[in-house]
Amino acid sequence: MGFMSYKDEDRSLGDSGLRVSPVAMGCWPIAGMTSLDVNDADSLATLQAALDHGVNFFDTAYCYGREGESERLIGRGLGHRRDEIVIATKGGLHYDPQGKRLLDARPERLRRECEESLRRLGTDRVDLLYLHAPDPATPLAESAGALRDLMAAGKTRCVGVSNVTLEQLETFHAVCPLAAFQPPYNMLQRQIERDTLPWCRRHGVAVVVYWPLLKGLLAGRLPRNYAFPRGDGRAKYVMFQGDQWQKNQDFVDCLREIAQDLGRTVAQVAINWTIHREGITAALCGAKRPYQIVETAGGMGWRLDDGPLQRIDAALAARGEAAVQPAV
Ligand SMILES: NC(=O)c1ccc[n+]([C@@H]2O[C@H](COP(=O)([O-])OP(=O)(O)OC[C@H]3O[C@@H](n4cnc5c(N)ncnc54)[C@H](OP(=O)(O)O)[C@@H]3O)[C@@H](O)[C@H]2O)c1
Repeated sequence: MGFMSYKDEDRSLGDSGLRVSPVAMGCWPIAGMTSLDVNDADSLATLQAALDHGVNFFDTAYCYGREGESERLIGRGLGHRRDEIVIATKGGLHYDPQGKRLLDARPERLRRECEESLRRLGTDRVDLLYLHAPDPATPLAESAGALRDLMAAGKTRCVGVSNVTLEQLETFHAVCPLAAFQPPYNMLQRQIERDTLPWCRRHGVAVVVYWPLLKGLLAGRLPRNYAFPRGDGRAKYVMFQGDQWQKNQDFVDCLREIAQDLGRTVAQVAINWTIHREGITAALCGAKRPYQIVETAGGMGWRLDDGPLQRIDAALAARGEAAVQPAV
C-alpha cells in the first residue's frame, strides 16, 4: 500500500482555484429526513470530526431538512472556520409542506433559494452552487443562466450541476461554465464511465460523486438478513431488495476479505477505490456520527496496490453490473 499525507491528495475543483479533499462530507444524513436517530449534538460533532480528519469539503442543499437543518448546522458548527472549508450547496429542488419533492428551477426560485441558503449558512458567498436537478418545466438554459448570474453577482465562487445526462451537461456548460458535475457513482454503479465522466475529463470539469458507499451497503455493516426499520428511506431502493441485495452482499463478502488482508475496513477500501478512479475528484461520504466520517476519511491518505485492485476487479466481474436508480 502506498501512503501519502491528506494534503498531498487535495484536488482542484475544475478551474475554480479551489482545492478540495478527495473525501468530502455528504450532509444529507444530518438533515434527518431519511436517516434515523439524528440529533444536533452528534451532527455538530460529525462536522467537526470531518474537519479534524482532513476533510475540507462539505456538500449540502437547500432541500436538506424541512427547515434547511443541514445548511444551518454547517453554519453553526463550522462558521467560525469558514475560510478553511469549501461549501457546496444546491438549488432547484424543494419539498412542499406535505413532504412531496418538487423540482422548480425557474430563475426567480433559484435566486430566492440561494439567498436563503446563504442566510442559513451564515456566509456571503458559497464556494460551489449546483443546480440540484433539471426542472422539466423550465428550459435548462434558463436555469443555467440564473446560476451564471448568481456567480457574476458574487453569490457563489463557481457553479455545478447534478443529475443530468451528457446532452444536458453540454447545454448547461454552453450557457454557464461548469466547475463540477455531481452524479451517483460507486463500485457497483459505474454508468458515468461511458459518457459523462470522459466528457468532464475532456472539459476540465470536476466530478464529485454521491453514494460512494451505496447508501451504507459498501460500508459492510448491514448484515445479509438486515431488515430496514420503519422510516429508513433506503428500503425503497432496488439495490436493497431481493436478488440485487443478495448479489450485493456476495460482493461485500469479497470486499470484506480484501479489507481484512489490508488491515482496512470495507468502507475505506470502497472509498479508496472510488477516489482513485481516473477523473473522479471527490466522493461525498454521508455521515451522521463522528465514527462514520472518521472511518471514511481513512479511505484517503493511501492507495490500493495492483494486487488488491485485481482482486476487486475479479469480484466486480463476478457481481456484474448493478441496477442504477438515481436519487432524482
Ligand atoms: N445530488 C444529489 O441528488 C444527491 C443525491 C444523494 C446524495 N447526495 C449527496 O451525497 C452524499 C452521500 O450520499 P448518502 O449520504 O445518501 O449515502 P452514502 O454516503 O453512500 O452512505 C451514507 C450512509 O452510509 C452509512 N455509513 C456511512 N459511514 C459509515 C460507516 N463508517 N459505517 C457504517 N455505515 C456508514 C450511514 O448509514 P446510517 O444512516 O444507517 O448510519 C450513512 O447514512 C449525501 O450526503 C449528499 O451530500 C446528493
